Amino acid sequence: MLLEIDDLSVSYRNDEGEVNPAAVDVTLSLDRGQVLGIVGESGSGKSTVSMSVARLLPSPPAFYPKGRILFDGEDVLSMPLERLRQIRGRRIGVIFQDPMGSLSPLHRIGDQLMETVMLHEDMPKRAARDLVLEWLGKVGIPDPVVRARAYPHELSGGMQQRVMIAMGLMLGPDLVIADEPTTALDVTIQAQVLRLMRELHRANSAVLLITHDLGVVSQMATKLAVMKDGRVIETAENAAAFFAAPKHPYSQGLVREARRMELSTEPK
Ligand SMILES: Nc1ncnc2c1ncn2[C@@H]1O[C@H](COP(=O)(O)OP(=O)(O)OP(=O)(O)O)[C@@H](O)[C@H]1O
Ligand SMILES: [Mg+2]
Repeated sequence: MLLEIDDLSVSYRNDEGEVNPAAVDVTLSLDRGQVLGIVGESGSGKSTVSMSVARLLPSPPAFYPKGRILFDGEDVLSMPLERLRQIRGRRIGVIFQDPMGSLSPLHRIGDQLMETVMLHEDMPKRAARDLVLEWLGKVGIPDPVVRARAYPHELSGGMQQRVMIAMGLMLGPDLVIADEPTTALDVTIQAQVLRLMRELHRANSAVLLITHDLGVVSQMATKLAVMKDGRVIETAENAAAFFAAPKHPYSQGLVREARRMELSTEPK
């Protein structure tokens, strides 16, 4: 198993010392070739769990009262920082919802992508540059040589998100974590970006896809987990089977609501 989340609890402690348990007793697993969709309402703990996998939660306020996260057999939560840095970006790629939050406003996008490549790959600068330009092209950014010189704010939201996808996928990670990768985009662009993610992630990599959009999950996920109030209340090894017959009353409600929304937005 590539990723095993084993009885994980994650809490946040605020300035007054109060503890908010954001993820409770979460057990999930994910193997190569699978796409695990995590769905659930806002605040149910999806980002808390997925960001823990790359140990990206600022700690404090986050802490881990219990459980383990094994990535390819190694315990992420107790790993030395040095080892973690090797893995992040190279073996675990992350695509966030908010590109402006993860791209530096001060540096040209080409330079930022170059930096990621050079950090992880022992390759000549010229080859790194070629790889970056190749990926800007792959994610559908027109005129990569020119666009590589742009600063993030000079690109549209959709183009910024494509840069994030290039950043997350270009080193061929074994695990891709995508947290609401299309939520900030308008609907037509959402579909393009999803298609790109589907085409470009390596066939034998694993994807952890976080979204509150069941439509997105039904297009992408092979397996599925439903979270509510920090807990996983239902898992399904087969996403299609889940959509045909969700078991938990809460999941049934989610699926029913998604159907209703879909019908109401269908063109007449
Ligand atoms: N940095 C933080 N400090 C304190 N509490 C936090 C922090 N981040 C998240 N929380 C709390 O943890 C719980 C789970 O939040 P989380 O962001 O994981 O949910 P989510 O399912 O990703 O929601 P959304 O769909 O809105 O992104 C919520 O109660 C939230 O308020
Ligand atoms: Mg979230």
